[in-house]
Amino acid sequence: MITAPAKLGIIGCGKMASAMLARWLETATLHPDEVLACTGREASALAVGKAFGIACGTDAQAVVDGAETVLLAVKPQLRAGVLAELRPRPGQRWLSVLAGVPTATLEAMLPGAHVLRLMPNTPVRLGRGLIALTPGDSARQGDISATRVLLAPLGSVIDVAEQHVDAFTAVAGSGPAYVFLFIEALTHAGMAQGLAPKVAAQLALETLLGSGFLAQEAGRPPAELRAEVTSKGGMTQAALNVFTERGWSETVTDAVAAAVARAAELAVG
Ligand SMILES: NC(=O)c1ccc[n+]([C@@H]2O[C@H](COP(=O)([O-])OP(=O)(O)OC[C@H]3O[C@@H](n4cnc5c(N)ncnc54)[C@H](OP(=O)(O)O)[C@@H]3O)[C@@H](O)[C@H]2O)c1
Repeated sequence: MITAPAKLGIIGCGKMASAMLARWLETATLHPDEVLACTGREASALAVGKAFGIACGTDAQAVVDGAETVLLAVKPQLRAGVLAELRPRPGQRWLSVLAGVPTATLEAMLPGAHVLRLMPNTPVRLGRGLIALTPGDSARQGDISATRVLLAPLGSVIDVAEQHVDAFTAVAGSGPAYVFLFIEALTHAGMAQGLAPKVAAQLALETLLGSGFLAQEAGRPPAELRAEVTSKGGMTQAALNVFTERGWSETVTDAVAAAVARAAELAVG
């Protein structure tokens, strides 16, 4: 029985919401008693409840009724089924991480709610995330300020206009997957040249990390940093020539465009 509103109610506590929640609990931004969650299945609700020490069930309306702020984190395709059944409390703050779903669509489905759209990426787990913040027309200044405070321990919060959210998502939201793919590819390439799998994996990962930190610290364009590693006619040049011949840059551009196109389909679907 819920007696007082928990601070945060989570509808759909899967990969994304769990990454955010883990960081909030770790940084004591929220206490487990202040969080109420639900998932789609009893088994996952039990697992989430146990993992985080929070109340977690499968009744989404109970989460709404017991929460001051609701974090909506189900798959975008499920939103119609999930939201059709729910009645927000008047003036309740709703934070949605649903890819491709505009604030106006959510506002139409959640009458009386103050809606803000978020687009986090999974490095929020370590407080090194990027989170796009897009308030809907229903959001008040107080909602925006309170949301910024809640998001601060997760990483950098960036104000993103609604028309650019899909582009942000395609670069930063999906981006970790591209980076992991590159780490995998570089690992396999090292193994193909005879390195032990463990060594190849370490080289790939630490090269990515070191280069990322260098790019951040140097404060110079990556093209300049690349030029410094690339002697004319040398090994790096030979490798970069292959990337260029195979259309590396165009591939990345096309991949991001495909993600944006998929967002448009999800918004309709
Ligand atoms: N993963 C990312 O990197 C990322 C990045 C940015 C944004 N997002 C957004 O985050 C959202 C969730 O993605 P995800 O990767 O975390 O997916 P996920 O791991 O599949 O999590 C979805 C959660 O929703 C629950 N759920 C399913 N049906 C439900 C229902 N009827 N009522 C309540 N909960 C229900 C699932 O429970 P069961 O496990 O029991 O089905 C699960 O806990 C998506 O909208 C996605 O666009 C994800």
